[in-house]
Amino acid sequence: MSKRVVMVTGAARGLGAVVARRFHEAGYRVALADIAFDEADSLARSLGAGSETACALRLDVTSKTDFEQALNELTRRWNGVDVLVNNAGASKVVPVMEITAEQFDQVIDINLRSVLFGCQVFGRYFADRGAGRIVNIASLAGQNGGSATGAHYAAAKGGAITLTKVFARDLAPRGVTVNAISPGPMDLPIVHESVPAEKLKAVIAGIPGGQLGSPSYVADVAVLLASPDAYFANGACWDVNGGLYMR
Ligand SMILES: NC(=O)c1ccc[n+]([C@@H]2O[C@H](COP(=O)([O-])OP(=O)(O)OC[C@H]3O[C@@H](n4cnc5c(N)ncnc54)[C@H](O)[C@@H]3O)[C@@H](O)[C@H]2O)c1
Repeated sequence: MSKRVVMVTGAARGLGAVVARRFHEAGYRVALADIAFDEADSLARSLGAGSETACALRLDVTSKTDFEQALNELTRRWNGVDVLVNNAGASKVVPVMEITAEQFDQVIDINLRSVLFGCQVFGRYFADRGAGRIVNIASLAGQNGGSATGAHYAAAKGGAITLTKVFARDLAPRGVTVNAISPGPMDLPIVHESVPAEKLKAVIAGIPGGQLGSPSYVADVAVLLASPDAYFANGACWDVNGGLYMR
């Protein structure tokens, strides 16, 4: 049987890199799609010798054309694709009353428009094939309004959870599932880079579980949701947040 194929967006670093690596360990061919092509490429080379099982794609998630080109490339290279993980995301913290139109649009584009285009392009392709899995990386911020990430980011992630349900309903009769994962703060570079050490201590103290989340566990959840056996998990939001949503 030929290997299953996954494309992970924002796979050059952080959670996307962990997810890409975990799919590769699970036996998938992995396309690491990112605007940071060189970093994605060096990670792809470290995973798959001779680009047989891993490759990098230059993709800006705000561009529908880029998703279409990526799909064409994977169809040419590996004869198709089975799973899309919409992981790329970004935010700059700005107080809610000070968010400008440009900042709002930029954060919505990267975190929400990306999910729309990814689900449209890959969803239609999966539906035509009668099989496919989409996993959208949302956030606890999309459920509780967030704290350290900004209102535009929280609104975008809330929208990503809603789009997950809309696409799941639309595509379910065609053999396609669409699920979201909503992590709380994880032990990832961006968290350490963007939250000052003292504030991070307070963040961790506020997590009922008492520690930052494990990116590799979130990657395991993504692999689980991507399995052909996962057909009955659909339109769901999988919470992985140390108990923070109980607060
Ligand atoms: N870090 C956390 O604790 C946390 C918590 C909840 C949700 N998330 C979500 O997890 C996902 C990954 O977060 P991370 O912590 O790894 O972030 P990160 O900033 O470390 O990595 C994001 C990746 O996305 C890429 N990217 C940014 N804009 C892009 C674009 N327009 N097109 C293609 N790629 C682009 C970057 O180059 C980078 O490789 C995001 O969706 C984020 O919102 C993260």
